[in-house]
Amino acid sequence: MQISVVTLFPELVEAGNRCGMVRSALEKDVLSVRGYNPRDWSEDRNRRVDDRPFGGGPGMLLQPGPICGAIDAAVAEQSGERPLVVALSPQGRRLDRHVVADWSERRAPLVLVCGRYEGFDQRILDSRVDVEYSLGDLVLSGGELAAMVVIDAIARRLPGVVGDAQSVVEDSFEADRLDHPHYTRPPAWEGRGVPTVLSNGDHRRIAEWRAEQAVLTTARRRPDLFTEHGPTADERAALERHWLGGEQDASASNRKRD
Ligand SMILES: C[S@@+](CC[C@H](N)C(=O)[O-])C[C@H]1O[C@@H](n2cnc3c(N)ncnc32)[C@H](O)[C@@H]1O
Repeated sequence: MQISVVTLFPELVEAGNRCGMVRSALEKDVLSVRGYNPRDWSEDRNRRVDDRPFGGGPGMLLQPGPICGAIDAAVAEQSGERPLVVALSPQGRRLDRHVVADWSERRAPLVLVCGRYEGFDQRILDSRVDVEYSLGDLVLSGGELAAMVVIDAIARRLPGVVGDAQSVVEDSFEADRLDHPHYTRPPAWEGRGVPTVLSNGDHRRIAEWRAEQAVLTTARRRPDLFTEHGPTADERAALERHWLGGEQDASASNRKRD
């Protein structure tokens, strides 16, 4: 899958490419990431790409010429299907796992456009951008971290990148449920043990416990995830059993947080 990133800070995106799953996807050649710096399309002798907003007001805006030059080059250099041009913006649709799953399954090329300063001249968005996406209701100083989030979330879904593909399928949100709690060695640490069910080798019981914990955590923290897939009969029984018994959540951190 080809991803191009239009950014004033390609070195930031390159740093992400050197680590973890993104690095693994690049090494396995299932992903390519290429940066396009709008300064290379600036006609200013100091390679400026920003100017003051018409109408006054604080800050600087990205000018259309250099940004669109970089987008056009990225689009022209991608092979095959025309890429989807995505601007990272706090005003965009909220990114979620459905969007990322769709992109990684279709493997269609993407051009991710990162803003800086006060953002984009509107004509960039109107003339070149197919869709805007946001990381959430917070404002970053640039789109690069959002682009790196997209690249990371896609990389781990590409074939052969995560060692055990089952772990992706069981992650939070995959089946509209949050993940269950996990434990590893040592079995006792700072006076805290591990639920006995996990050490008894009964795989059916372990699977039941994990499914129960997943639905309890979802009910407590993210009941909105039930909107599309409401609790199954087994899940309803687990919720009733635990809530009637007063055991709402397995992990102490959940109880503290909630
Ligand atoms: C300081 S922000 C500009 C914010 C803009 N003036 C506004 O209020 O909508 C600079 C750039 O950071 C990126 N950015 C900021 N917050 C973001 C978010 N929540 N999701 C994705 N990108 C974001 C965008 O690319 C944006 O153009």
